[in-house]
Amino acid sequence: MMNKHAGRAPGTANGSVMRSLSSENCGFEILDYGRTTNDFIDNKIEELGSGDSEEPFYVANLDRIVKRHVRWLTNLPRVKPFYAVKCNNTPAVLKMLSALDTGFDCASKGEIQQALSLGVTPDKIIYAHTTKPLSHIRYACAHGVDMMTFDSEDELLKISLCHSKAKLVLRIAVDDSKSLVKLSSKFGARLGSVGRLLKLAGELGLDVIGVSFHVGSGCTGSLPFKQGIADARHVFDLANLLGFQMRLLDIGGGFSGIGEFQDKFEEFSEVINGALDEFFPPDSGVQIIAEPGRYYVESAFTLAVNVMAKRVVIDESSESDDGEENSSNRMMMYYLNDGVYGSMSCIVFDPAHCNLEPYLHRAVKSSEQRYRSVIWGPTCDCIDKVTDSYWIPELHVGDWLLIDNMGAYSVSVSTDFNSFERAHIYPVMTAETWNTLNLTHT
Ligand SMILES: Cc1ncc(COP(=O)(O)O)c(C=O)c1O
Repeated sequence: MMNKHAGRAPGTANGSVMRSLSSENCGFEILDYGRTTNDFIDNKIEELGSGDSEEPFYVANLDRIVKRHVRWLTNLPRVKPFYAVKCNNTPAVLKMLSALDTGFDCASKGEIQQALSLGVTPDKIIYAHTTKPLSHIRYACAHGVDMMTFDSEDELLKISLCHSKAKLVLRIAVDDSKSLVKLSSKFGARLGSVGRLLKLAGELGLDVIGVSFHVGSGCTGSLPFKQGIADARHVFDLANLLGFQMRLLDIGGGFSGIGEFQDKFEEFSEVINGALDEFFPPDSGVQIIAEPGRYYVESAFTLAVNVMAKRVVIDESSESDDGEENSSNRMMMYYLNDGVYGSMSCIVFDPAHCNLEPYLHRAVKSSEQRYRSVIWGPTCDCIDKVTDSYWIPELHVGDWLLIDNMGAYSVSVSTDFNSFERAHIYPVMTAETWNTLNLTHT
């Protein structure tokens, strides 16, 4: 429900840089004063219970995204974030980030289409995929998206055919050994080959404007960023000698969204800022951008799932002497209405977030007996397992479990295998944050 104080549309009474968002078109619910995301989850579960539905759902807490943005601006003031759409393409998230004036890293025609349809202007998009279908390059060209990455001769030839006015960013391979998801075996030119690539770009009359790199997702050390920035300087110098006017450095993604490495964001930023000042001082005139994905969204999404079925399995090998069942030989099997083929594909595909810890929505007494439990997803496949040997109180069919930190590579990777519906997304923002944003940007 809309709060009366929260209803002042940005860009009206006070004017605001949040002009593109009004309480009517923002695509998220503004919570009444004092109402929290947890209150919203409680109400939603109650509401579903009173209807005939137990659909899984996410609540996207946009306050968290705003906080992350402020933290970014505070710590990396020289680096403009181009949010990586692939990480989570929920329209409300993209609209919010666009209103906060981020750019966008798009990896395909579909992502570019989505960004443009939400009002993002082409100059705020980098087509950051080094291996692009010809038709997608043509689409980018037709819609004024000029900035795009490359790392090979063949890509240069394709771009010269389809988008000869493109502003090219040479992606280099960097040390990804400190990252949980590695990317350098698939993407990025080695330093030894950049001279050849730049010469070919010159012969084709293409405009190379900068360098990008990606240290890998979920990076656990700051040194790869430092080395990447130093390597980029080397490529800038070479390109400048060859007559290109180099003006953009893109330091990619890799910033953690949760856990101890997220806590080190300030430390990482110091190292990055030091390297930028050393190799690309402010008076160099080089624009610095980055492509953070999980940093912005991972902690913002909570998933709510329902226990739709249950089996109690008696471990006969540990039966008591008199053959009686007891708590230690009961293993619980629970079946949720969402799993690995849906919102939780990270268990299989995302080494940076593969251990999920569902917890009960209801209050749990410390005295409650705990049982070894296996939690499965809903599909017919055994790979669809959420947790193994998980010690929790007994669950009942109809119980709700919550899983935090589900915002990265979840929504955008899920399938509807077995025709189980994808989880619905409810984006919300507190009235306090909404009003602060509108007043701050007056
Ligand atoms: C080219 C590119 N940019 C940005 C990202 C986002 O990375 P992260 O979510 O680690 O910030 C990725 C992730 O795979 C990527 O491939």
